[in-house]
Formats: sequence, C-alpha cells, structure tokens
Amino acid sequence: MKLWSKGLEPDKMIEDFTVGRDRDLDLLLAKYDVQGSKAHIKMLSEIGLLKADEWEKLDRGLDEIAKDIENGKFAIEPGVEDVHSQVEFLLTQKLGDVGKKIHSGRSRNDQVLVDLKLFFRAELKEIAAAVNKLFVTLQKLSEEHKDKLMPGYTHLQIAMPSSFGLWFGAYAEALIDDMQMLLGAYRIADQNPLGSAAGYGSSFPLNRKRTTELLGFSTLHYNVVAAQMSRGKTERAVAMAISSIASTLGRFAMDVCLWNCQNFNFITFPAELTTGSSIMPHKKNPDVFEIMRGKCNILQSLPNEVALLTVNLPLGYNRDLQLLKDLLFPACTELRRCLEICDFMLANIIVRDNLLDDPKYDYLFTVEEVNRLVLEGMPFRDAYRKVGMEVERGEYRPVKSVAHTHEGSIGNLCNAEISFKMQKLLDQLG
Ligand code: ARG
Repeated sequence: MKLWSKGLEPDKMIEDFTVGRDRDLDLLLAKYDVQGSKAHIKMLSEIGLLKADEWEKLDRGLDEIAKDIENGKFAIEPGVEDVHSQVEFLLTQKLGDVGKKIHSGRSRNDQVLVDLKLFFRAELKEIAAAVNKLFVTLQKLSEEHKDKLMPGYTHLQIAMPSSFGLWFGAYAEALIDDMQMLLGAYRIADQNPLGSAAGYGSSFPLNRKRTTELLGFSTLHYNVVAAQMSRGKTERAVAMAISSIASTLGRFAMDVCLWNCQNFNFITFPAELTTGSSIMPHKKNPDVFEIMRGKCNILQSLPNEVALLTVNLPLGYNRDLQLLKDLLFPACTELRRCLEICDFMLANIIVRDNLLDDPKYDYLFTVEEVNRLVLEGMPFRDAYRKVGMEVERGEYRPVKSVAHTHEGSIGNLCNAEISFKMQKLLDQLG
C-alpha cells in the first residue's frame, strides 16, 4: 500500500522500475529520516499542530524505530516504496491514527532532502577523517625518509634531485586542496531544507528556524524553491570533492605502480601485500594500487554523471533526482575504501636508499653544478653553457650532494606548516 494510494495499486512492473534500488539505498538514510521526523514533530507540537501527548507518543515511537535501525532490525518491506513510507507505516502500525499526523506540513520531497543533507554531512566528516589519517601517514613518511634522495622527472626524463620527503609530503599537501573542496561541499550540505515541503512551502505556520536549530544545521535554505533546487546541487558539490580526492589518490597509485616496477625499483611492499600470477612464478604484482587507480579514475567521472543526470531538469521536484543516490552512495563507500587501503599499504611500504649512486642518474646534478658556479660569481647563462658543454663532451662529473634550503624544498620541507594548514580546515568542519 502506497502513502499516496487512493485505493488503486500500481502495476508491479511500474513499481519495480520506479522504486529501483531505493529500498536498499534508503537504508542508509533511515537513521537521518528519523532524526528529521523528530525535529519536525517537535516543531509541529510547538506551533500547536500536535498535542503534547501526541508528540510524546510519536517521539517515543520514533525512538523505538531508531533503536531498531541501530540494531539492524529495520527493513523496507516489499510493497513499501521508500524509507519515508516505511517509517510512517511503522508509526501508524504502532500508534494508530496519531501516526498519520506526522506528515502535516511536509512532503517526501523535503524529507528526502533533509535526509540527504544529514547523510552527506556525516559522510563528508567520515571521508575527512580518512583523508586526514592518510595525510598524517604521508607526513610521517615524509619526515622519516626526508634524507633519501630520488630522481625528479620532467617529461618522464630525469630532471633534478628529488626526495622521498618531497614525494610523500607532496601528496599530503595536495590532500589539503581536496579538503578545501570537501569543506565547500560540507558547507553546502549544512543547510536546512525542511519546511520547503513539495518545493513550494506550506500554509501551516512552520517554524523553520526551530528545525534548523534542532538538527544542528548552520543555516537554512530560506527560499523554498532554492531548497528544492539544492537536490542535485549538493550532490554536485559532494561529487566534486570526491573526484578531487580521487584524482590525488589515483595519481599516487600510478606513481606507486611505476616506482615499484623493476626498471625503477624505488619502492617495494612485503610479498603478502602483493598478488601473484597463475603462470609466472616470480610475480609480485601491485594489484592493490592498480585497482585503486582504476576505481579513482571511475570516481572522477562522478561530477560528469551528476551533471548529465540533472543538467536540463525543469525547476521543482522530478523523479530523476532519485537516481542521484545510485551515483553518490556507492561512490562515498568506494572512496573511503580506497583511502583506507592506501593508508594500510603505506604502513608497510619499503623505501630504497642510495638510489642516486647509480650513474644513470648523474645528470640530475647539472643544475646543482650551474648554481655552484653562479654562487662563485659566474653569470647564470655562462655557467649553464659551461656545464652544458661538459655534458656534450662527456666530461661532466657530478658532485652528488644537494643543499636546498628554501621553503618547501628538499632540505626544508615545512611539514609543520603544512600540518597547520590542514588543521585549520579540519577545525572548520565542526
Ligand atoms: N524516492 C524518492 C526520491 O528519492 C522520494 C521522493 C518521492 N517524491 C515524489 N514526489 N515521488 O526522490
């Protein structure tokens, strides 16, 4: 039986097609649906639309449902369309007619909106925690390996000396930019849409500031149409944050695959963290980072998918919006899994030392030589030419030491400053 049924049940095929994966995906919203309903009925009681004893019964009923959700005893039954219908159905079953009063002044359109805002807020915090965990690990590795030099490349040709301190630290700092995107998405999610009802408000004297306060949102979507428009817009922001983090992670995964290759041989992992081949007995493949790279590449299509789904929708609620859940929910889970496994792998990474002793890396030091001559007083262009000619004649002999001191360079990583930058963002996440 549908909430909206007037006696005629819809065709089974229509029902299956339109409900889609909602019965599964909505389980993730259940906890927030109850939270939203609790705030709504409290407000309804305060504006006189529910009597004190009615509010009490409903509130207790919702608490019981919340407990069932927590204990994994909540399910969306076949024939029930979504989590909103299921919660109302359970309340009516438990409490009779009073259960039917809960829906005054709201619609499933603002209900799902508020559920999603609460869900994304929590999810973004979880993702932020996972990003920060990886950030801390990368910074630790950066400090631990700051004296180990490695080749730096441009055009994938050896260029100048780099270090493991720079490499690990670079990805840590790149995650801060991703965190900015995440914070932006969080702020967009942190606004109360409840009370926008079907998308055009209600003639009841709803107190939207009160539900904002009760749900801990930092502000409201004031304009009810803007509130409805935020479905899709919030997801777009979340998708961009996810994509941004995935781009950093995917790139890191590529570095690892390359540098773990025997031709580079900069890093390795314990055998039990690699995978074998069914035919080649010597194989220790970096499959974890290959899967990570692939998943992160796919995750980067998310903003595009959200855009394609929503780009030409007419104003107001449209059922297409339901499909945003199919895109965003699994993506949040995938991203978190990638962050977690990356952190796990890094706890076991083995970094090789003395890489630059190999003569194939001699030319990494030409700029060091040019700079040494400049410091002795030779104009840069002359020094460049002198060293260049030595290289051409095969007479160049490197002095394999580096003394970089400026901020953010091999000898002065500024990890404390970078860590401070991250902390400032995390503090704003509330
Ligand atoms: N499952 C729907 C969604 O996610 C809930 C809102 C239904 N509203 C409606 N008018 N059909 O969008």
